[in-house]
Amino acid sequence: DRYNVAVVGATGAVGQKIIETLEKRNFPVGELKLLASARSAGQQVTFHGQTYTVEEARPEAFEGIDFALFSAGGSISEKLAPAAVERGAVVIDNTSAFRMVPEVPLVVPEVNPHMIGQHQGIIANPNCSTIQMVVALKPLYDAYGIERIILSTYQAVSGAGQNAINDLLDQTRAILDGKQPEPKVLPVGSLPKKHQQAFNVIPQIDAFTDNGYTKEEMKMVNETRKIFGDPDIQVTPTTVRVPVLYGHSESVYIETKDAFDMEDVVQLLQQAPGIKVVDNPAAQEYPMAVTAEGSYDTYVGRIRRDLFHPRGLNLWVVSDNVLKGAAWNAVQIAEYMVKTR
Ligand code: A2P
Repeated sequence: DRYNVAVVGATGAVGQKIIETLEKRNFPVGELKLLASARSAGQQVTFHGQTYTVEEARPEAFEGIDFALFSAGGSISEKLAPAAVERGAVVIDNTSAFRMVPEVPLVVPEVNPHMIGQHQGIIANPNCSTIQMVVALKPLYDAYGIERIILSTYQAVSGAGQNAINDLLDQTRAILDGKQPEPKVLPVGSLPKKHQQAFNVIPQIDAFTDNGYTKEEMKMVNETRKIFGDPDIQVTPTTVRVPVLYGHSESVYIETKDAFDMEDVVQLLQQAPGIKVVDNPAAQEYPMAVTAEGSYDTYVGRIRRDLFHPRGLNLWVVSDNVLKGAAWNAVQIAEYMVKTR
């Protein structure tokens, strides 16, 4: 059986990786539609040795499509996802447009695959920082329960799209040439004020909300609760952009409900799907952004008990934000649906 697939945002940072992932995984693609803005219409992309032409994303493009994978921004999803569903497609959406809609499953296949079957046309992919954190915490959540999470992120610029990648490279080059570049994209593309990202760390990802936390931080709170189906879990996040191209790193501290044994913790993590443990301080081995780049796995290291809290545990969690954080998680959901059909 073959499935007709549309990629919306096919020319973007995530869209390009979705196409690559469909190819690498040998996803049973029948017809392939590559959709973007009118600016990109006519661009050519190779898939399994065949040339495809990018088209403007319009409602009619979803005629006959089985899976529509969206990553062109929230407003495009709001506008076109319903048009795709009307035409019989299942939408797997990478934007935040539908994540907190109660009827829309918010899915990480390692954590809550059972939610996929409940979809009514749209399945949401969580935020990239949330995905890798819940993959790492899932085996511990199941074994011990989790009362609270305190976390800080070190996020790559690719999470803000291809323009942010290009701008970090441009800024870096300019500074090395002794020039003073005008930052163009970060911290938030849609806000007028910009900060230098090259050789700098920015403690703002997305716009601020009224409570002093950013939207990115509130996504980590709300999405974590929805994915675990646990409205009581306490999450306190600080999300930060660092001058890295691919791979988000996270310092995650948890307090469990039940007591844990360190050897069991390591073993649970080692046996969990989607996790690779890299934790050998004596040999200076721990996950880094460059470790995770290009991989579908979530890497966990620096596993250590808190010095004071008896049920406190520290983890260092790293994953490729564009793959597990977006493209691979979306394709993985589609694969799961094909397998369980
Ligand atoms: P385009 O390249 O034609 O602008 P990124 O997250 O890397 O910024 O990528 C965003 C993706 O969303 C790109 O593929 C971009 O296409 C696409 N996109 C942006 N605006 C629209 C639009 N109005 N309609 C369809 N696709 C869009």
